[in-house]
Amino acid sequence: MRILITAGPTREAIDPVRYITNKSSGKMGYSLAAAAVHEGHKVLLISGPTSLEIPNGVDYLPVESAEEMYEAVQNQIGRMDAAIMTAAVADYKPINVPEHKIKKTGDTLTLTLEKTKDILGSMRSVFGFEGILIGFAAETNDVESYARGKLEKKQCDMVVANDVSRKDIGFDVAENEVILVYPTHTDHLEKAAKTHIAHEIIKRLPSLHRQKSNNL
Ligand code: CTP
Repeated sequence: MRILITAGPTREAIDPVRYITNKSSGKMGYSLAAAAVHEGHKVLLISGPTSLEIPNGVDYLPVESAEEMYEAVQNQIGRMDAAIMTAAVADYKPINVPEHKIKKTGDTLTLTLEKTKDILGSMRSVFGFEGILIGFAAETNDVESYARGKLEKKQCDMVVANDVSRKDIGFDVAENEVILVYPTHTDHLEKAAKTHIAHEIIKRLPSLHRQKSNNL
């Protein structure tokens, strides 16, 4: 299968030398890319800035902002069989980014932010993607019901959800404990290295593919 994976954080410019970002390390997405290559898939990794090594055998497309990631996905998705959206895309970005560095003239500084485009939410409705679509959900409470809401709203085949209120899993650490939310049921994966979780997710692609073909 040809698989597109988004990973890492995005950077949203405040001025030419400053930006807003988040704590995403990119580990989950890079682990998925490596696991997918290991299973014989062809992988395009579209990634925001991380300090990770690009996995061997992966086609790599670096981006910075949510807008750049959106455009890269839009340009590439036509040739893909599956898409796994692990990126922690900024939900908001500063409006009116000045051409020059902001000087510290005032005692306070107010930034006005506007919503970025929802890449995962555009996959079906805007890009017309009909392949296997896997989203990620980072929640602090009611993990399964929020994840199921995202699954339905964004028309995913599976949402991988974790509880980011826990310090021992998820953001910026090597381990994760996730639930896999499908339209018909939910599977729980025990706490494990992200590399292991990645293999578990990639192993499920063929059956997702079969289910989709049977429903057509
Ligand atoms: N995502 C995306 N583009 C965005 C924001 C999010 O592709 N601009 C993707 C993420 O990669 C992830 C999924 O959407 O796969 C979940 O993102 P999240 O921000 O948690 O979902 P939202 O629907 O924006 O809900 P909320 O932030 O209110 O929880």
